Amino acid sequence: MKKQATTIFLGISLLLLAVVSFIFFRQIDTGSSGLFSNQGGRMPGMGMHMGGEVTTELAPSTEQSNKLVLPPILEGNLTPEDGTSYSITALNGNTQLKEGEPTPTYGYNGSVLGPIIRIRSGEKVEIKTENELDTTTSFHWHGLKVPSNVDGGPHTPIPTGGTADLKFMVKQEAATLWFHPHPIGEAGEQVYQGLAGLIYIEDENSDSLALPKEIGINDFPVIVQDRSFGSNNQLDYTQSYGPDGTYGDTLMMNGTINPYLDVMNEKIRLRVLNGSNARNYQFRLSNSSTFYQIASDGGFLNEPVPMESLQLVPGERAEIILDLSDYKVGEKIQLMEANIVVLTINVTEKTSKKSPPLPKTLNNIPKAEDSTTPDKVMTFSGMGNMVAIDGKQFDMDRIDLRAKVGEKEVWEIKNIRDMMGGMIHPFHLHGVQFKVISRNGNAPPANEQGWKDTIALYPGDSVRIEVTFPEKGIFMYHCHILEHEDNGMMGQVLVE
Ligand code: C2O
Ligand code: CU
Ligand code: CU
Repeated sequence: MKKQATTIFLGISLLLLAVVSFIFFRQIDTGSSGLFSNQGGRMPGMGMHMGGEVTTELAPSTEQSNKLVLPPILEGNLTPEDGTSYSITALNGNTQLKEGEPTPTYGYNGSVLGPIIRIRSGEKVEIKTENELDTTTSFHWHGLKVPSNVDGGPHTPIPTGGTADLKFMVKQEAATLWFHPHPIGEAGEQVYQGLAGLIYIEDENSDSLALPKEIGINDFPVIVQDRSFGSNNQLDYTQSYGPDGTYGDTLMMNGTINPYLDVMNEKIRLRVLNGSNARNYQFRLSNSSTFYQIASDGGFLNEPVPMESLQLVPGERAEIILDLSDYKVGEKIQLMEANIVVLTINVTEKTSKKSPPLPKTLNNIPKAEDSTTPDKVMTFSGMGNMVAIDGKQFDMDRIDLRAKVGEKEVWEIKNIRDMMGGMIHPFHLHGVQFKVISRNGNAPPANEQGWKDTIALYPGDSVRIEVTFPEKGIFMYHCHILEHEDNGMMGQVLVE
């Protein structure tokens, strides 16, 4: 009994210490005039970021190494009228994620995550969706340029047992997009439980470019997510929940903990999606070598961009090329986030064919154009339950902005610093791929000069984007920290 009391006392003291130092460090943070970023200012072990949000630190995995699970490619059926038809069903399941008991999860067409929907630019597509979960969901196609009745946002909930038949034309270029649930107030929990899948769009350009494109051989999807496991390997959303984002201490790539990949000594392509609820990543390679980003959210960049580190906020994607041509069989390289291994890549075989050099030109995206006065100005502010856009919280019955289809606009998006310093909000806009014109008056970095649907807004940032909606309807814009989205950091634009 006495021992227990001491433990409790110790526990409370530690908690107090944590709270006090938290306030203290935040004050330092507010006092400094330096730029906020998630690159610096991480305090190991303290379980928080200087950016303002409390997080759970990632812990190195103690699980045995597992082969990276690759999501299957979903086969479509060719129909005479509706083009290629796909079926996606949201399911309850159990998945062996860790040693021990299987974890109750959600998945699309399986127990966790989902298949890759592979579609072609210019084609007709039908997706038959079905909800077999015991809760309402919606099927949102993040990054897809479709009319809003197909978009799958909060306006189109699918109740348990419900179905929806979506038909659309693929009107955009080759890109790696994704799909996930978007029901009002529940997106965070449902993604956390396992709902997310990838969409590959292909076109003539992606066919012809000399890039690694043998899926599962030298072209790999990597969905990065963080989770916390309770006793019996449960994913307990309520337990792990944070109003500024639900974080986990365990990384999962495609649902695999501590994954490895066996490849040949050639160029390999990783299509990385930050599918986490809230965590930002700063990826790099274990030997600090240079890699090349070839695509951003909405398609290929104009040219490969050499990088030593890559930041991805929730919802963002990047395709990167690692050149392993000079590696010997038996050598390995690791994709890292800080000191945590994301993915171990083993060179296990010698290839007979040499990878061609990276193409110098990948795309021909015209430069984003600024205007003297932006057409729209919006502000992101607050934390926790106080998050807001332009001081307002989401109201499905309120149209916040209006735009005309096909008309180019300049939006200025601001992230207002508060007394606590503020935090990074990932800005996402539905139904369109936009271009970043400037960040705080400066040209965006080279890897942000392609098509984007999700961008980081640092505290104090003012970012200008060029937007032209291709389709009509009501489209959402929101913070892609899913808990902020669920807390109402979302607005809607009516495109007519
Ligand atoms: Cu990826 Cu509105 O979401
Ligand atoms: Cu979206
Ligand atoms: Cu946010």
